[in-house]
Amino acid sequence: MKKILITGGAGFIGSHTAVSLIESGYAPVLVDNFSNSDQSVLKGIEKVVGRKLIFCQGDCNDASFLKNVFKRHAPIAGVIHFAAYKSVNESIEQPAKYYQNNIGSLLTLLDVMSDRGIPHLVFSSSATVYGFPERNPITEDFPLKEVPSVYGKTKQICEQVINDVVRAGKPLKAIMLRYFNPIGAHPSGLIGELPIGIPNNLVPYITQTAAGIREKFTLFGSDYQTPDGSCIRDFIHVLDLADTHVKAFGYLDTVQDKSCCEVFNVGTGRGHSVKEVVQTFEQANGLKLNYVVGPRRPGDVEACYANVDRAKRILKWEAKRSLSEALQDAWRWQKNLQKK
Ligand code: UD1
Repeated sequence: MKKILITGGAGFIGSHTAVSLIESGYAPVLVDNFSNSDQSVLKGIEKVVGRKLIFCQGDCNDASFLKNVFKRHAPIAGVIHFAAYKSVNESIEQPAKYYQNNIGSLLTLLDVMSDRGIPHLVFSSSATVYGFPERNPITEDFPLKEVPSVYGKTKQICEQVINDVVRAGKPLKAIMLRYFNPIGAHPSGLIGELPIGIPNNLVPYITQTAAGIREKFTLFGSDYQTPDGSCIRDFIHVLDLADTHVKAFGYLDTVQDKSCCEVFNVGTGRGHSVKEVVQTFEQANGLKLNYVVGPRRPGDVEACYANVDRAKRILKWEAKRSLSEALQDAWRWQKNLQKK
């Protein structure tokens, strides 16, 4: 079984990707420092897949730790690099921390990968690199303009670093996946999103409100130039998104181009408004959400959804799960959390 190293393996996307890789016959080696995740996630993954995980606790900024992991678990066929800080607000308040961690860990990882001759990298990027897009749907060739958040800037810089390293003729092939808005959870209810503190993102805020942890949900802005006045996003089930990583390794294994460095949008190709999410959540789960309409949240993009033709054509991948399914899975996960 091919071993794939997953940095940030206990995170929201990392944990679901570990499941997808195992179900596709890979042996993931998970690395996490638990700075924004919890050890209980590992047990959850093990229950889903019915086997023990390979896990190493440590930080990707620590070169000797990484070298040890690669050595102990050799041969490692490729790496998926998720480990990064991801709060937009915190990144604006603490820029140095974000530049240091998000860019520093990639540089350290690339160095160790080069030393060990690891040939394949899949990098976790974000639609945030498009900033305020001029139109929708967004294709991968849209210009990457200046983005307001430091978090977004670190994603742009990391993409640039990877491009430059591949172009410098290093024996490395890379795929960068620009995720739109990942939501949902594993249908077993055993793994899902675990925000620390008050959630910033839409769906965890909704599920925590429905669970009574938050008093009410505030819908940010109803005066956008969209059909119902609320923002539009491309919400993708985290399991659909996890599957792109499996497809990405399949592609890297077969592509002839030695300096392959490709970028793909990972979304559904459909936009849904925030109001639609609230309504679908209520309908899909048979409940009423206590919510109010508030002012716009500063920095929010009016509409942002993907053109996913490239991933369909080259990776032979497309999202299969519906918004309603994702919101049922997210709610099941939230209810299970309450029982713990
Ligand atoms: C943010 C990040 C993005 C990241 C994504 C998923 C930016 C600008 N945004 O996207 O990089 O990939 O999270 O982690 O970098 N909303 C409410 N009430 C709430 C919370 C959200 O109405 O309590 C609305 C927001 O105004 C927005 C939509 O829901 O219109 C989605 O918000 P959110 O889940 O935070 O994701 P994004 O801001 O799109």
